[in-house]
Amino acid sequence: MSIDSLTALIRTIPDFPKPGIMFRDVTTLLADGPGFAELVDRLVNVARPLDVDLIVGIEARGFILGAALAHALGKGFVPVRKKGKLPGKVVGIDYVLEYGTDRLELHEGQVPQGARVILVDDLIATGGTALAAAQLLREQGASVLMALFAVDLPDLGGKTALEADGVASQALIV
Ligand code: PRP
Ligand code: ADE
Repeated sequence: MSIDSLTALIRTIPDFPKPGIMFRDVTTLLADGPGFAELVDRLVNVARPLDVDLIVGIEARGFILGAALAHALGKGFVPVRKKGKLPGKVVGIDYVLEYGTDRLELHEGQVPQGARVILVDDLIATGGTALAAAQLLREQGASVLMALFAVDLPDLGGKTALEADGVASQALIV
């Protein structure tokens, strides 16, 4: 299946979650069996050559893609969650979104010092979320090999911001 066919499976919902935001909704792609399989296969092809220890997924849709990727690679999966969701002792970081602010948290000790990780999310917009997650992982002593996304919204400059911060990134659909 081509990238154009994958792109066509993503719908855009205007004014969600706030007026003026064109929300790229990947649930329509996830609900399509061949589309979901193709998307995960393409993520696996990017990640497999890297000597990765752990896949880290960002809430919420980064869990879906990150878990599928981790399973395909036979690696562990660690969630980065929005504040107050993880039951154990956490480390956290505040960040700015295209439409607000929030806080990301990680279970303390779940990403070992020196771990080689790939960060996964469905989409990069401003890059605020991924930058915060990458910083949190670095603070734990992890090496962020790359940040991997299904979708990039290049007009919002997220990939450029990540690269300026020394985080390599790749998105399948631009
Ligand atoms: C979306 C998306 C990314 C983030 C990207 O999540 O899934 O995590 O925004 O935006 P950024 O590059 O400007 O930071 P959202 O904040 O909508 O949260 P959700 O996944 O919990 O719905
Ligand atoms: N996260 C930030 N901006 C977004 C957008 N336009 N669509 C989907 N997720 C987003």
